[in-house]
Amino acid sequence: MITELGLPDRTPLSGLPSRVRIHEVGARDGLQNESSTVPLETKHEFIGRLARAGLRTIEATSFVHPKWVPQLADAEQLMPLIAGLPEEYPGLRLPVLVPNTRGLDRALELRCADIAVFASATESFARRNLNRGLDEQMEMFAPVVARAVEAGIRVRGYLSMCFGDPWEGPVPVGQVASVGAELLKLGCTELSLGDTIGTGTPGQVAALLRAFEQRGVGADRLAVHFHDTYGQALANTLAALQLGVTTVDSSAGGLGGCPYAKSATGNLATEDLVWMLDGLGIETGVDLPALAATSAWMADRLGRPSPSRAVRALTTPS
Ligand code: HMG
Ligand code: MG
Repeated sequence: MITELGLPDRTPLSGLPSRVRIHEVGARDGLQNESSTVPLETKHEFIGRLARAGLRTIEATSFVHPKWVPQLADAEQLMPLIAGLPEEYPGLRLPVLVPNTRGLDRALELRCADIAVFASATESFARRNLNRGLDEQMEMFAPVVARAVEAGIRVRGYLSMCFGDPWEGPVPVGQVASVGAELLKLGCTELSLGDTIGTGTPGQVAALLRAFEQRGVGADRLAVHFHDTYGQALANTLAALQLGVTTVDSSAGGLGGCPYAKSATGNLATEDLVWMLDGLGIETGVDLPALAATSAWMADRLGRPSPSRAVRALTTPS
């Protein structure tokens, strides 16, 4: 059940955007990290509920090698089940992750209209996550982005390990901005800056955004993707909003992690984000009580409570 205090009091803060687009990653980033595979029907219902709760960008799954991420090996079965949702919810986008031309062929077969390629800012993670070096990952993505753009498909670029890397330590901002700019140059419309292991703090966020600005990449082309390992995700998000970012990635109920970066925990929880944005009077289109109820439902399916503070506060009877 949802408690009576379903919405925060609204008190705006100057210098923030009036609207934020939430890029919901629970069904992909969240479920890719579950120790067991969530049944297809549960994924289907989860995505439907997320759309019903007002989310309009819902990353659905990945067309990666099924042996690398078996949890999402049912992408071919899932996409047809949710293909009708954009008709029911106008404006709904259902992006999928695609690492290479084989993945793109699979996505094209299913008429996906939005894809995302995912690069690493560090050599160590590029090797672990993609079996490629820093330059080789770009060689792998270049034909994917070119063919997708030609087919009228929107391409998002992800950049992982933007702040810290478990094998290399702190990652220099110049290195991150340089790899990110390269990814954008391939033809990605937006770049999502991933704090894969959640070590970043607000000053680092500001420094990175300034480094991109110096390379001619404004906040309007950037999104932020924070994992909440050290509890910094919401503070980092506020820092990014203050510098003009208006697209924020988060996962319902705080599901998530990355199977190839063991120290990565869940993403910033969408409910925690929406509680803050609602409180600041920033529009998201999300129905917070409906979303919290969805995450409580998913937590029941997964057999453990949601790590989201907002979900727990909103769904625990007093
Ligand atoms: P590889 O082993 O180097 O692949 O893996 P390959 O190119 O050498 O091909 C080997 C075989 O795999 C071939 O088959 C290919 O056809 C097949 P064979 O000829 O031997 O029979 N293959 C595929 N089959 C199906 N779908 C495909 C595919 N590609 C090749 N797409 C590869 C390279 C990139 C495929 C692999 O490393 C991979 O799948 N990696 C994905 C890892 C992943 O999904 N990680 C999590 C997502 S990233 C993330 O979570 C971070 C993010 O959230 C942001 C953040 O938090 O920082 C986005
Ligand atoms: Mg992630």
